[in-house]
Formats: sequence, structure tokens, C-alpha cells
Amino acid sequence: MALVHGLFAIWVSLALLISNSSNVEGRTHFHKKQKNKGIDKGSPVSQSPSNSPSNPPEPNDPGNPTSEPCVFDVTSFGAVGDGTTDDTAAFREAWKAACAVESGILLAPSDYVFTITSTIFSGPCKPGFVFQVDGVLIAPDGPDCWPKSDSNKQWLVFYRVDGMTLTGRGTIDGNGQKWWELPCKPHRGPNGSTLPGPCDSPALIRFFLSSNLMVNTLRIQNSPQFHMKFDGCEGVLIEQLSISSPALSPNTDGIHIENTKSVAIFESDIANGDDCISIGPGCSAVLIDNVTCEHGHGISIGSLGVHNTHACVSNITVQNVFIKDSDNGVRIKTWQGGTGSVSSIAFENIEMENVRNCIIVDQYYCLTKACLNQTSAVYVTDVSYKNIKGTYDVRTPPIHFACSDTVACTNISLSEVELFPAEGELVDDPFCWNAYGTQETLTIPPITCLQDGDPQSLSDASIYGC
Ligand SMILES: *[C@@H]1O[C@H](CO)[C@@H](O)[C@H](O)[C@H]1NC(C)=O
Ligand SMILES: *[C@@H]1O[C@H](CO)[C@@H](O)[C@H](O)[C@H]1NC(C)=O
Ligand SMILES: *[C@@H]1O[C@H](CO)[C@@H](O)[C@H](O)[C@H]1NC(C)=O
Ligand SMILES: *[C@@H]1O[C@H](CO)[C@@H](O)[C@H](O)[C@H]1NC(C)=O
Ligand SMILES: *[C@@H]1O[C@H](CO)[C@@H](O)[C@H](O)[C@H]1NC(C)=O
Ligand SMILES: *[C@@H]1O[C@H](CO)[C@@H](O)[C@H](O)[C@H]1NC(C)=O
Repeated sequence: MALVHGLFAIWVSLALLISNSSNVEGRTHFHKKQKNKGIDKGSPVSQSPSNSPSNPPEPNDPGNPTSEPCVFDVTSFGAVGDGTTDDTAAFREAWKAACAVESGILLAPSDYVFTITSTIFSGPCKPGFVFQVDGVLIAPDGPDCWPKSDSNKQWLVFYRVDGMTLTGRGTIDGNGQKWWELPCKPHRGPNGSTLPGPCDSPALIRFFLSSNLMVNTLRIQNSPQFHMKFDGCEGVLIEQLSISSPALSPNTDGIHIENTKSVAIFESDIANGDDCISIGPGCSAVLIDNVTCEHGHGISIGSLGVHNTHACVSNITVQNVFIKDSDNGVRIKTWQGGTGSVSSIAFENIEMENVRNCIIVDQYYCLTKACLNQTSAVYVTDVSYKNIKGTYDVRTPPIHFACSDTVACTNISLSEVELFPAEGELVDDPFCWNAYGTQETLTIPPITCLQDGDPQSLSDASIYGC
């Protein structure tokens, strides 16, 4: 099948997303040409290392009219990069210096392995700031090396930065093995049990309360928990990332966003042990295009409405995506209770290979199997599935709409949905509960359980408003 519409369509979408959105603007223009804005090793603008942490190099003259990028190589700030020495202090100093000049570049050069501990890099920075990793950045080796005082588990945090680029030809490695094996992780206890206990592991990279961000070309791997997390951000462009961790690494979502608007995720490959991309409450104007997801839990909207919270997610487009050997394909999951809505969602041109629950709406999401049904739910409406093709794992029906008893899902539309068993017998009983919508074309397997029309005038429309 034509997996990808074509570069042109992507660029048109991108242009629309950025040039005419009042949300994404400002100093950083999301333009492809900026993608590799960093420098090459040996570039003439590199400053020669002084190797004296107490005497860092002077940046270029701030009045420099040509405004050449200023490179702040972490090795000039005392970073050793031998894979064992703690280089955190050098990174902090380099950050301070690079952040303070226009178009500053913090460079972690190739051929070095930098070990750093949990760090918050705070903005604001001067415009055009670039954090460039050409070498390897590695997290400490497991819980025993984690500061006991750090209850708020996260490794690299970028806080209150506007117009920053995180890029490079290198690798950011979470060294997550020992975290995944904690006996409190699912089935990692003695004889495959799961021991009780708080089991938080650090997210690898978190952008918090930041805007106009670009993240590209890096390899990000083996996170103890989420690989990348964006919360409270606006204007995020992710391109050409490669994210990987083993299929059995728990909670290692690839990219998680919440309370974040105007997001584009392009041309990236994600293979992990949990959601490939997860979209939490408070997200809108999200475009995911030309992404590959492997051996995780697919692309998820949710979970939403936990502990009766109000959740709003709207205007999400997922297109030209290939999902392989995954527990889910495209999923919307909400808890019982909760209010708000999920609306204007388009899943288009999705190829599945050996995927369970290819298309799923689950409004009874529950981690313990002990959640009670409640009288409200997050309202799911205006969801379209178009050109979704490929194969499913026959252990579960490939199409599953489990909508809330109290608030039906409405205006679900299906066209060109054709799913076949990867092997074995056809499972031809799609599941629908309280789901309303239309089939524009006959689906495979045939779906007869979707109901016509619009069942509800919501009794209390205000609680579903966003
Ligand atoms: C963007 O907006 C400008 C004016 O605000 C308009 O002239 C232009 O046609 C718009 N471009 C797109 C792609 O909508
Ligand atoms: C694990 O299972 C084996 C064999 O069933 C048993 O002998 C052993 O006591 C179990 N260990 C624990 C910690 O439960
Ligand atoms: C899709 O992304 C891959 C990299 O993941 C890239 O090689 C390919 O050119 C992209 N296709 C389009 C049409 O952008
Ligand atoms: C919906 O999201 C797209 C990005 O996918 C954006 O270009 C568009 O402006 C958004 N529409 C609205 C009404 O916010
Ligand atoms: C919740 O409602 C669903 C749909 O009516 C039903 O299948 C399920 O058994 C109920 N669960 C509980 C815990 O009552
Ligand atoms: C149904 O949803 C589609 C988007 O999937 C939207 O374009 C259309 O306006 C909606 N129809 C109604 C009656 O709200």
C-alpha cells in the first residue's frame, strides 16, 4: 500500500502548522533548513579546549555582527567523557555559558561518553540555543546510583526554555536495565511475581513549560521509563529520531505529551516496551506523520479521566504510520468517571503488521481490574479511521469499541479498513458497545455493531465541554 502520501503533503501540513498558527510562532521558525543547525566536528567555529574548568573560554564577542554560532564544548568546561567520571558539573557550566549568548551551542562532542546525573537545565536562554550531542550521554547505572533524595524521578529536564533545539549525531542512553528488573515491575519479582511498592523510575528527557522546541536526528535508547516527555509545552517539532528499548522494558513510552499544543512528530522510528506515542490530557493540534512503531503498545490517546478528572484532547492527526508486532494499533483509552472530551481525531493511512487490537476505544481502562463503573465518562466523538490495512494477531478482535454506558461514542467513521489475520482463523466479530457512527466502505472484518445516528443530547453538556 502507499504507506506515505509523499513529502509534499507533509510539507504542506508542516507549513500550515507553523506559518499560520497563532500558537506556534516567535523567534524559532520551524524550518527544515534549521534541522541540522548544529556544527560538525572540527568546524572552524569550534573553540579549542582549554581543559580548565575554572577558566572556561570566553564566548565570541557578543557584539560580533556576523553572529557566528558560539560553540561551548563541554570538554572545555572540564568534562572527561570516559564513561565513568561524573561530568554533570561541566554540563551545567557549559549550559550556563551557551544559554547566555545568542545562537549558543552546547556541544557534547563525538568519541566521548559523558556520564551525567539527574539535572535540571533551566532557561530562559538567548534565542537560537542548541544542545548538540554528537557523542554519547549516559545515565547512571540503575537505582543504586540514583540520589536517594530525588523523589521526583527524571533525568534530563529542560525547564522554561523557548526556541531550543536538541540535536546531534550521537546517542542519549538511559541505561535502564536495572530499573526494568526491579522486583516491583510487572512479573520481575521472584518466580514471575510482581512485588508491591512504589516503583517509579526516571523519565529520560523531559521538557517542561517550554515552547518552540525542536528535537531531531538523535538516537535515544534504553530509558528507565518514558524516553521523552513534554508537559506544559507549546510548539514542538520532532524529526528523524530513533528511539529504542527492548519489548519487555516496562513503561518505556517513546514520546509522551500532555498539556501540550501544536506538536509535529515526523519521520521517526520507535521500538519500545510501552506506548509508541502517548497523548495525555490537554493536547491539541498534534500531527504525527511517517512514524514507525515496533513491539510496543501502539499509538494511544490517553489514558484520560483518571480519578474523575476533566480531560480535553482534540485535533489529533495520525497518518502514514507503520505499526508492527504491537499490543495495540491506534487506541483511545479513558477511565470510568472523568469528564471532558476527545474530539476531531483522524487516523489515516496506517499499516499494521501482526498487531493485537488494531483499532480500539476502551472507556473502561483500568489497571487493577477493580474499577467500578461510574456515571460520567470522557466523551469520545468525531473520530475517523481511514485506510487502515494490514494484519492482526488473532488473540483479540482487531476492532473494539467499548464506549461508556452513560456517554456513547458518536460520529465514528470507518473507511477502507481492511484487516486480515496474520496467521490462523479470521476473527470476524468486531466488538462495539454504545458506539455510534458509519462505515463509509465495507470493512474487513465486516462490522455490523456500529449504531446509526446520534443517541444523546448530553444531559449535562457543560461537563463535557472543553
Ligand atoms: C497565511 O496567512 C496569510 C495572512 O495571514 C495569508 O496571506 C496566507 O495565504 C496564509 N497561508 C496559508 C498557507 O494559509
Ligand atoms: C519459586 O518456585 C519454586 C518452584 O515452584 C519454589 O521452589 C520456590 O520456593 C519459589 N520461590 C519463591 C521465592 O517463591
Ligand atoms: C519517512 O521516514 C523515513 C525515516 O524514518 C525516511 O527515510 C523517509 O524518507 C520518510 N518518507 C517521507 C515520504 O518523508
Ligand atoms: C489542527 O491541527 C493542525 C495540525 O495537525 C493545525 O494545522 C490546525 O491549525 C489545527 N486546527 C485547529 C482548528 O486548531
Ligand atoms: C461496567 O459496564 C460494562 C458495560 O455495561 C459492563 O460490561 C461491565 O461489566 C461493568 N463493570 C462493572 C465493574 O460493573
Ligand atoms: C463527524 O466527524 C467528522 C470528522 O471525522 C467531521 O468532519 C464531521 O463534521 C462530524 N459530523 C458531525 C455531524 O458532527
